[in-house]
Amino acid sequence: MIKPPASARKPGSALLDWYDAHRRVLPWRAAAGERADPYAVWLSEIMLQQTTVATVKGYFERFLTRWPTVEALAAAPLEDVLAQWAGLGYYARARNLHACAVMVARAHGGRFPQDETELMALPGVGPYTAAAISAIAFDRPCAAVDGNVERVATRLHAIEAPVRQAKPLIRAKVEEMLPDARAGDFAQALMDLGATVCTPRTPDCGACPLASGCVAFRAGAAERFPVKEKKADRPKRRGAIFILQRGAQTLVTRRPPKGLFGGMSAFPATPLTRDVAPEEWLRFAPCEAQWRALPEPVAHVFTHFALTATVFIAQTKASPQLAPDCRWAAGRDLGKEGLPALMRKAALAAGLSMD
Ligand code: ADE
Repeated sequence: MIKPPASARKPGSALLDWYDAHRRVLPWRAAAGERADPYAVWLSEIMLQQTTVATVKGYFERFLTRWPTVEALAAAPLEDVLAQWAGLGYYARARNLHACAVMVARAHGGRFPQDETELMALPGVGPYTAAAISAIAFDRPCAAVDGNVERVATRLHAIEAPVRQAKPLIRAKVEEMLPDARAGDFAQALMDLGATVCTPRTPDCGACPLASGCVAFRAGAAERFPVKEKKADRPKRRGAIFILQRGAQTLVTRRPPKGLFGGMSAFPATPLTRDVAPEEWLRFAPCEAQWRALPEPVAHVFTHFALTATVFIAQTKASPQLAPDCRWAAGRDLGKEGLPALMRKAALAAGLSMD
């Protein structure tokens, strides 16, 4: 059959043609024409929240090798899941991931629901993730609108309002584009277009299958969209991390189950959820010792604040009185503790090996 020219067809079908020729090969994607495994789709979508495709690939493959089914993941101890997640950040996602696996295994007989609303009732699954799973795993016509898709839509329609205000309009515009079939490919085509062609800086409009209908491109202004909102700066917080060594051992603690790094291994530290002034720092040391501050603090940017933490190090020969959640980790095992990225930065600053 001869296809009508792209300009006479729905933009969705021009995009699908483009996807057939340019789709990225990604480990969670099914081959062309095949349905993806819902478990793999869900796992990848949770990992891809706030994390780049390049980073996620390795984690995804390791998780899938270790826990090939949702039942296997549900049966894993939470600590193992958190340790395997270490470095991906936002640990609430890993806790929700495990809770979600348990719910799917126990309450849904190991099968993910297909419907967006039912998916949203699962831990860690918000509107975007529900739509993405429903579209990609079950080919349902859902608008999966992430940051890439928002950029594409604001350019296509030259939407002047900042994204936060324009969300309902953007969703309506994406829904208008949904094709009659291949909803999963369409969702991923928009994501790929945003990631590889309709990029934040210097978009490659010459390669875009939607350029002829793109209002921003026609006005020569693609890069002006999405319109930026003035952002209040992230609050800055100060704190300290304490690395105590006894011979080849290093003191670690287990973080309380809720809150920042919930349930993970970490070095003792000042409360990281508030700004702590330098004169207070040593009050939070795990014990008395000859604490020495490293000259360069470590920095880490979290979603809601930016932290600068001074690293204190000390050696002890004795067995000091310690809080009950502290224990000594063998030096060679520190890399296996699943320390969060901030703590790994502190360990490296203190010259500890993380292999
Ligand atoms: N970003 C989030 N989900 C994605 C997917 N399935 N493919 C490509 N990029 C994505």
